[in-house]
Amino acid sequence: MKKKNGGAELPRKSNSETKSGQKSKRAKARGPVQRDSKEVMAELVAKLTERLGSKPVPANATEVKPQGALAPNRDRLTVGVDLGDQWSNYCILGLEGETLAEGQLRTTQQDVTEFFQALSTARVIIEVGTHSAWVREVVVGCGHEVLVANPRLMDGTRRRKRKNDRVDANNLARVGRIDPQSLFPIEHRSTEVRQDLVVLRARDALVAVRTQLIKVREWLSRIDKDSKDARNKRIFDMWLSCHTDADIAGAVDLSEEGVRKITQQMAELPEVGKPPASHLSDFEIPLYNVWKQQEKTAGAGHFGNSEVRWVDNLLYLYTRPFDIVVDPFGGGGSTIDVCKKRYRRYWVGDRKPVPERAHQIREHDLTAGLPGLPRWQDVKLVYLDPPYWKQAEGQYSEDPTDLANMSLEEFNKALAGIFNGFAKKLSPGAVIAL
Ligand SMILES: C[S@@+](CC[C@H](N)C(=O)[O-])C[C@H]1O[C@@H](n2cnc3c(N)ncnc32)[C@H](O)[C@@H]1O
Repeated sequence: MKKKNGGAELPRKSNSETKSGQKSKRAKARGPVQRDSKEVMAELVAKLTERLGSKPVPANATEVKPQGALAPNRDRLTVGVDLGDQWSNYCILGLEGETLAEGQLRTTQQDVTEFFQALSTARVIIEVGTHSAWVREVVVGCGHEVLVANPRLMDGTRRRKRKNDRVDANNLARVGRIDPQSLFPIEHRSTEVRQDLVVLRARDALVAVRTQLIKVREWLSRIDKDSKDARNKRIFDMWLSCHTDADIAGAVDLSEEGVRKITQQMAELPEVGKPPASHLSDFEIPLYNVWKQQEKTAGAGHFGNSEVRWVDNLLYLYTRPFDIVVDPFGGGGSTIDVCKKRYRRYWVGDRKPVPERAHQIREHDLTAGLPGLPRWQDVKLVYLDPPYWKQAEGQYSEDPTDLANMSLEEFNKALAGIFNGFAKKLSPGAVIAL
């Protein structure tokens, strides 16, 4: 958009399109625009250079002395800068006092330098404060005249109304352009500048360290959460496979009490909070009481392995999530797969666990007695799938305590003993499936 006085095309969204009289108010209401200072300056400088017939000040220019005893500034740009801790607002006035641009730049040495290096020679007005000493030094180094206003001495209309009010960039520029004396400009001492720069750099370093610390803290808490999740998963898996609290505590380096609390919470999960894979989602309810042996999925290589749906049917009919299921003739371990899927706790053993599942199937010979289980009262199903006597002779081992290798008399006696042994241990309502 062209300005009526032939001024610079203004940055989009910039407040500078308003007439100078309304400028300050409207700029405040909309809030300043943060744009890349290089981009803004490139646009502006191109226009101004054309208009003023002057060139941007070279980077190594030396200080330009104020013209006379602070005369009005009508033949150069005037820039008011309201310095903030992180961002500063600027307002650039043209030769006739019209607002050419307003916006924000970061209050860093680099951004301030880049901004003022790109600008045609100007009078720059800032307010005395934390950053004024170093900003003055930087801007003077870019070849501009800098006035550091002392608002405490400025008269009522130009001064802030309350102690915390800032004199805005537009106001600074206007007063500095026409009536610079009323700013009561001060001179900074070079030690002040150095101190301010030290403070500035220290602040930047602190901010950087703080950001790093926050990142490290976030990272640590993520690791902490991940390792807690991994630990809880381990506890859950061990608890599901009926390990004792003491076993679990040893494995995850936690007190037995701590483990008990966690496993209790798992067991007491309300029905709605229980994990999925319920029989409602992917299961055909057994309508008949004759179940065919149709499909052998898990442990297909194990002689006599049972149809997984038998176990699934039994779980559906006789157990609920987190009840304990005992399978002491574990074979290929199909019971483990179904129990894990349905969130039943399981104790699965065999006198000769298959090597590939030796970490899951407990080695236990039933002719030596029943296994020791931590919580018999939670056992709701014992699934007995023994060898089919002579039909399986020599299939699992040549050992005499292998039920497949016994005489019929021994086989019946052993099986009856196992059956009765479990019956005595179980609580009312629990089921033995043979
Ligand atoms: C029919 S298979 C079990 C198959 C299993 N249900 C499956 O789906 O893979 C019988 C198992 O009983 C085991 N067995 C035989 N004698 C045993 C005993 N005295 N104590 C424990 N297990 C025994 C065998 O090693 C064999 O793995």
